[in-house]
Amino acid sequence: MKVLVTGGAGFIGSNFVLHLLERDPEIEILNFDALTYAGNLENLRAVESDSRHRFVKGDICDHHAVAEALDESIDAVVHFAAESHVDRSVEGPGIFLRTNVVGTQVLLERLRQLGHLDRQRFVMVSTDEVYGSLGPSGAFTETTPLGPNSPYSASKASADLVCRAYHHTFGLDVVTTRCSNNYGPFQFPEKLIPLMIANALEEKSLPVYGDGRNVRDWLHVRDHCTAIDTVMRHGRSGEIYNIGGNSERENIEVVRFILDHLEKSHELINYVTDRPGHDRRYAIDASKIRDELGWEPQIDFERGMGETIDWYLAHADWLDQVRSGAYRGYYEQMYGNRGAHRG
Ligand code: NAD
Ligand code: TYD
Repeated sequence: MKVLVTGGAGFIGSNFVLHLLERDPEIEILNFDALTYAGNLENLRAVESDSRHRFVKGDICDHHAVAEALDESIDAVVHFAAESHVDRSVEGPGIFLRTNVVGTQVLLERLRQLGHLDRQRFVMVSTDEVYGSLGPSGAFTETTPLGPNSPYSASKASADLVCRAYHHTFGLDVVTTRCSNNYGPFQFPEKLIPLMIANALEEKSLPVYGDGRNVRDWLHVRDHCTAIDTVMRHGRSGEIYNIGGNSERENIEVVRFILDHLEKSHELINYVTDRPGHDRRYAIDASKIRDELGWEPQIDFERGMGETIDWYLAHADWLDQVRSGAYRGYYEQMYGNRGAHRG
């Protein structure tokens, strides 16, 4: 099987590349990523010499680059590439619309042109945030109406609808996944968990938005990868699958867990002004993927968090490089004289 992974140098995409290489000896991966601030080839250092993986630097909004990478030899596109951080979307929504909506449409349009409608699958990696915010009870199902509240979630919901239209109108083989918050190795330290770990390690204050009682459902990234792999191979065309971790936690509980695990003082917690439009609660009903495809999360939150914090402790160099921006020199150093492709 030959898979085009977009955004495969980001947090979830790089974990997915590592997962496929570990699980499937026959796999061929073309990793297509623009290497924005969130893309980091250091994440893939362990598989640098694996000939089943090839990296191509390219922008999903660039028709020519997409046409070159996405040809008839590709069996499936797994689409992670996106602007992914809500706070950045509040600062500047434009790039979110460009990358997340237009970029997705460029990929779909290329598949339409190729015309192998039932032989080239498109997996749209979306988010539970497209459903909006919940009150104290209930959970999102696949039929919950869309109600995105941030520019980030609005751009993801828009992309989901473009996927729906390409399936409905042109018969493209599209499957969409909507997952809750991920955590695990290689997550960029702008997101809650790695940010709090990094700050706690440096004994800097931990900025908790609002009252700290917003609730997220947390899923270990390895569980997300097995879910996407399952959907890629067995999901029904045109369907949406929610993916969740059955691990709802208030933000403040997550922050206290990190401080306790690192044996740091709770006095580092600093309540700061809330995020504008901050969604109160997300929760996922993932019974469809369980009943239809037999997928369930395997990693319990406390175990997964303990492992994750220990991973960041053991990879202080990775964290330092990301925080200092030094990782951005890696591509130039590795590829500056070599052109865009590598085996
Ligand atoms: P990330 O920000 O860590 O990585 C995004 C990757 O996309 C980076 O490698 C970046 O270089 C690349 N990229 C950005 N713009 C691009 C462009 N124009 N062309 C090509 N590549 C581009 O994101 P992540 O947290 O790994 O999320 C991956 C996907 O999963 C996103 O689509 C996100 O919406 C979705 N998702 C994330 C979470 C989560 O908790 N992180 C939860 C549910 C869904
Ligand atoms: P985040 O990791 O940005 O994911 P998302 O907004 O996509 O759910 O944030 C998770 C939760 O943590 C969210 O409720 C906002 C909150 N948060 C803080 O309280 N402080 C922070 O510094 C960050 C980045 C997030």
